[in-house]
Amino acid sequence: MSHPPSIPPSRYLPATLAVATPAILVLFVLAFLRLMPFWAFLLAGLVVFAATALLIHRHLADLLAAEALVRSLDDANHKSSYRPERGWAASLIAQLFRLRENWSRELRRQYAIAGTYETVLDSLPDPLLLLDDKRRVVRANLTARKLFGRNLRERDLAQFLRDPDVLEAVDAVLAGTSGQEVPFESAGTVARIFLARIEPLPVKALDNAVALLTFHDITALKRTEQMRADFVANASHELRTPLATLSGFIETLQGPAKDDREAHEKFLAIMYEQTSRMSRLVQDLLSLSRVELNELTPPTDSVDLGKLLSSVTDGLAINAKAKEATLSLSLPPDLPLVTGAADELTQIFQNLIDNAIKYGKRGGNVSVEVQRVEKGPMTMGPEARLDCVSVAVIDQGEGIGREHLPRLTERFYRVDTARSRALGGTGLGLAIVKHIVNRHRGALQIESALGVGSRFTVFLPRFHETGSNA
Ligand SMILES: Nc1ncnc2c1ncn2[C@@H]1O[C@H](COP(=O)(O)OP(=O)(O)OP(=O)(O)O)[C@@H](O)[C@H]1O
Ligand SMILES: [Mg+2]
Repeated sequence: MSHPPSIPPSRYLPATLAVATPAILVLFVLAFLRLMPFWAFLLAGLVVFAATALLIHRHLADLLAAEALVRSLDDANHKSSYRPERGWAASLIAQLFRLRENWSRELRRQYAIAGTYETVLDSLPDPLLLLDDKRRVVRANLTARKLFGRNLRERDLAQFLRDPDVLEAVDAVLAGTSGQEVPFESAGTVARIFLARIEPLPVKALDNAVALLTFHDITALKRTEQMRADFVANASHELRTPLATLSGFIETLQGPAKDDREAHEKFLAIMYEQTSRMSRLVQDLLSLSRVELNELTPPTDSVDLGKLLSSVTDGLAINAKAKEATLSLSLPPDLPLVTGAADELTQIFQNLIDNAIKYGKRGGNVSVEVQRVEKGPMTMGPEARLDCVSVAVIDQGEGIGREHLPRLTERFYRVDTARSRALGGTGLGLAIVKHIVNRHRGALQIESALGVGSRFTVFLPRFHETGSNA
């Protein structure tokens, strides 16, 4: 039960007097005309005054309660404990309560929606900034905060983004031009290239945002473009060199050495070597593009690595002999089958063993060691790495400097270009190996120490009868 609040008499007595006075005056006239005894006038006057005061006090309390409630709607500190239980005030207050309940429910819903939008903005992979008409940040999503720093709100864009082109485009859009796109390179340990896009909002937002600035990361795209351009440049260069040699010799054979039989023999041998070099290059390029094309579909056949490696080492024995090197193969007794494509696996080991002989020590040893491995490298994926097979090709050559290791599997990358060319290399061998290993869901590890030698290890997933290892 709630009680009406105590109200000072000064608040309700004047109103009581104003309301009760006409009735008391009537009673007074009746008493004056001696139509009622004077004591009855006093008693009736007192009753009228008291009843009026009670009524007014009650209504005033209800009114004050209603007022307090209305105030509490936008002022949480303002509270009233009195709740009228019946009458107009009770139903008015009940209605106000329902209204407030609906409002707070709607407010909570709006907060939830706003929260969802905030989460959506934060989970966007691209940095995003909302700007007001003074170029100050109104809102920045998580990626933008990671890129430009945490406290961006209210800051002028120029304070943390010093790219004049982007700032100029932003100013132009804020001055009324249509949306613009500008390339932008972020500074930092790893430079990234973005396409900054500035768009005016169709209407000014409630938080004063008038323009949207987003940054689309095109680093990978640019890198691919660069790689493609490099690749074309490299491939043409590799082809141009033997072509230039060939045309030089043809000219000589047609001109000065026309009748020189000895020169014919010599030049034709060189020309033959150059044409086989070109055809090797074209073959390598074709096999690289073939492997890349199939990279997403892993092979499903079973391959007996023991047999395959014996035949590869037999085939390369002649190369080893030419370098007075020994070529040894060691296989474990319980070698399981692996999942793969035999022709591609042959290509991998031919390349690796050929390199080991080519770049190994004259008179040294090249060994091929096959092992079962309980857990392969993480890059193989959780299932393929369990109980897999590793093949290590080890040489005692001069080794490879640390700085070259990460780039070794790039197309046309050679530690010593002139030497590799002189040895007949195209610089595509390890690139092909890497793509074949990727297609097999395997892994390639390269370890090398200058003056000691190199170890190229290929991990391959085991063959499982039930299905593929995709
Ligand atoms: N076992 C190794 N020891 C030292 N350096 C190596 C070894 N294997 C590869 N390299 C270096 O890595 C480079 C790239 O090797 P890759 O097999 O891709 O090309 P290549 O052998 O020059 O040409 P290709 O294999 O196409 O005939 C080589 O030029 C060489 O500098
Ligand atoms: Mg090679």
